[in-house]
Amino acid sequence: MAKSRTQFICQNCGTVHARWAGKCDGCGEWNTLIEEGTSSGIGAGPQTGRKARAGRAVTLTTLSGEIEDAPRIITGIGELDRATGGGFVRGSALLVGGDPGIGKSTLLTQAAAALASRGHRIVYVSGEEAVAQIRLRAQRLGVAETPVELAAETNVEDILATISDGKRPDLVILDSIQTLWTDMADSAPGTVTQVRAAAQAMIRYAKSKGAAIVLVGHVTKEGQIAGPRVVEHMVDGVLYFEGEGGHHYRILRTVKNRFGPTDEIGVFEMGDKGLREVPNPSELFLGERSEKAPGAAVFAGMEGTRPVLVEIQALVAPSPLGTPRRAVVGWDSARLSMVLAVLEAHCGVRFAQHDVYLNIAGGYRISEPAADLAVAAALVSSLTGLALPADCVYFGEISLSGAVRPVAHAGSRLKEAEKLGFTQAAMPPGNEEPSGAMASRVFRPESLADLVARIAG
Ligand code: TYD
Ligand code: MG
Repeated sequence: MAKSRTQFICQNCGTVHARWAGKCDGCGEWNTLIEEGTSSGIGAGPQTGRKARAGRAVTLTTLSGEIEDAPRIITGIGELDRATGGGFVRGSALLVGGDPGIGKSTLLTQAAAALASRGHRIVYVSGEEAVAQIRLRAQRLGVAETPVELAAETNVEDILATISDGKRPDLVILDSIQTLWTDMADSAPGTVTQVRAAAQAMIRYAKSKGAAIVLVGHVTKEGQIAGPRVVEHMVDGVLYFEGEGGHHYRILRTVKNRFGPTDEIGVFEMGDKGLREVPNPSELFLGERSEKAPGAAVFAGMEGTRPVLVEIQALVAPSPLGTPRRAVVGWDSARLSMVLAVLEAHCGVRFAQHDVYLNIAGGYRISEPAADLAVAAALVSSLTGLALPADCVYFGEISLSGAVRPVAHAGSRLKEAEKLGFTQAAMPPGNEEPSGAMASRVFRPESLADLVARIAG
């Protein structure tokens, strides 16, 4: 029997500490360390009485005949299938993380119903809600008549016994990982040790039986229960479900995928009958557009392989303060400072006496440097009070010397813009010559100063 000792584990990142501390060395979070006993089953050294068993190595070529089912389980919910890279993969584990209340259970109930109605065996295990509550949600979603199997269980051994009954399930949904506990670990449910051990047991089941499993994980801020990050490295794919307060749309973002591309997004809108797919997100983010107002520029962005048009809004106003304000929502504030500095240093545009506010419409978040040109256009437009043409899109990265640098996927960006009725573009000269209807109305500034001259000129 291994000697039992206690250790302190960060509930945010899982770093193990020998002593309690206020701040975790691993991730820098405060008050996230919780005392946990080491489990008897995991990491406790070799167990007595177990003999090594010889495994079987196979060659790749012999495998093609061995896999009888289609390896992917396609839900038919296009935005979900896109984010998973073409459907759930048999024998794999997927983590769906997100803030409490964002709609994870809703999304997975809809996916479960879609699959079950097409003859797949789907088991929905909920540790958070009673079966009656899940049924209420299903009624609201209009899918109460589908043969999804529901179980309200939290013990991993019980769950395994339940789902091993009858035909092998195609998909098992575990909602949520923080409620699971296994007999193999002796910490409380929701602690890092339990969450890891329970996830490990379920993943082992998925791999050995060829079922797909989905683990739901709540993102936690307080560190009282373990976050989804502690299982990210164990699973084959990680999706985060995100949304901004006050907006109805939700984005399912792929951050890890062993079987497909990352950087993909699926876009949904939460309504009173559940999540609705938004196949054309640009329309959503451009919906609130105010034409003819200075300070607004449309950025032709990319999310993975998918073009997304969003409006960037800037407000530059005279400042009563000695140190003017710079406030950003939806973009990187360091990047804003850089664009402001380049405008000041190379284009003679002065912001020193002005407050600068930058906002991305619809609560959307942009991480691409390709937005630099659109941001600069919006800033100059607001400062000069001159509205930008309403039918023009902007994209391009700006270097510290003020040059406009080429970006990836220029063709897709232009095509999306054309599709939505835009007829002009400002884009980097380094990108290939545009074709199509827009070709004759493209402005290709060599430097940011050229763009400023065009707007102010
Ligand atoms: P839920 O899926 O329970 O969130 P999570 O599992 O991520 O914690 O979604 C909860 C929220 O979604 C709740 O605030 C109610 C809202 N909702 C709708 O607006 N419409 C619906 O049809 C459903 C089922 C939920
Ligand atoms: Mg839920």
